[in-house]
Amino acid sequence: MNLEELLTRTRSIRRFRQEPAVEEKTLIELVSLTRLCGSAGNRQPLKYVLSCDPERNRAIFAHLRWAAALQDWPGPAEGERPTAYIVIVGDTRIAKDFHCDHGIAAQTILLGATERGLGGCTIASIDRVGLAQTLNLPTRYEILLVLALGVPGETVVLEHGTSPDNVPYWRDADGVHHVPKRAVEELILRLPEKSLTDEEGSPQPLVSLATEAEAASIVAALAERGIEAQALEGTAFAGTIGLDGAVQVMVKQADLQRAKQALEELQKGASDLDWSEVDVGEAEENGEAEEYNDENQRATDEKS
Ligand SMILES: Cc1cc2nc3c(=O)[nH]c(=O)nc-3n(C[C@H](O)[C@H](O)[C@H](O)COP(=O)(O)O)c2cc1C
Repeated sequence: MNLEELLTRTRSIRRFRQEPAVEEKTLIELVSLTRLCGSAGNRQPLKYVLSCDPERNRAIFAHLRWAAALQDWPGPAEGERPTAYIVIVGDTRIAKDFHCDHGIAAQTILLGATERGLGGCTIASIDRVGLAQTLNLPTRYEILLVLALGVPGETVVLEHGTSPDNVPYWRDADGVHHVPKRAVEELILRLPEKSLTDEEGSPQPLVSLATEAEAASIVAALAERGIEAQALEGTAFAGTIGLDGAVQVMVKQADLQRAKQALEELQKGASDLDWSEVDVGEAEENGEAEEYNDENQRATDEKS
């Protein structure tokens, strides 16, 4: 199984077969994999509490919350519950901040579980006080995550290119669990590479639009007239320049008057845009927009 296949199969499993139950030696193997993981400052502050005993499992289960998006489902019923748990805790004597060590460890354990024909689910929604009492956990340990494990008893399928914004996941009439994943194009931020700053100063806001597509059409129309422009997303900036739309079209200071004229011509001519929705703001000469750019420059300077 290559990495992509392993990752594809490593879904959050929340319903399990009861036989065969996961054995302690398997849990130890899984924890052993985490020894190979990266750790911030190589502090390796994580410790793991193992459970494959039915009584202890029952006690741990009582402190976990399952699949918040499946509102009519209270979690796995008796007979489909995990047969083992690994509770990931942070040792505060080793580190005060565990960074994302526990996320890396959790994914590593789940990948190892899949490789062994098992499945599991990372659980962060935990009654931590109750679980610490149940486990008799000394106060130096902070409960970070619980991993529920067992032989999968449900089918989970990925929905590629579907946004999870409306429905994070769902279960169909046949009990199959569907998990939407965003398309890769949605994950990659493409930022303007070139600065529009020229000898006269920083870029100036020309117009504000509701959508990226509308802004892109203005940028293209300006380009046809030999005026370089960029669409800039970001409400924080919009606020500082008094424009309300989600996307601002920026131009070089030297091009501002020409760009305004071009915009007027576009407004008079045929266009798909609903101009009543377009916010043509008054650009600052060298005021707040300049300030924004100074801020940006400072942030860049600090990083470099
Ligand atoms: C950090 C983290 C915390 C999570 N907490 C919970 C939880 O408390 N309860 C639960 O049922 N699932 C939990 N999940 C599982 C997510 O709901 C699941 O990863 C998501 O629906 C995507 O499904 P997939 O893991 O199959 O890709 C958690 C996952 C992660 C990574």
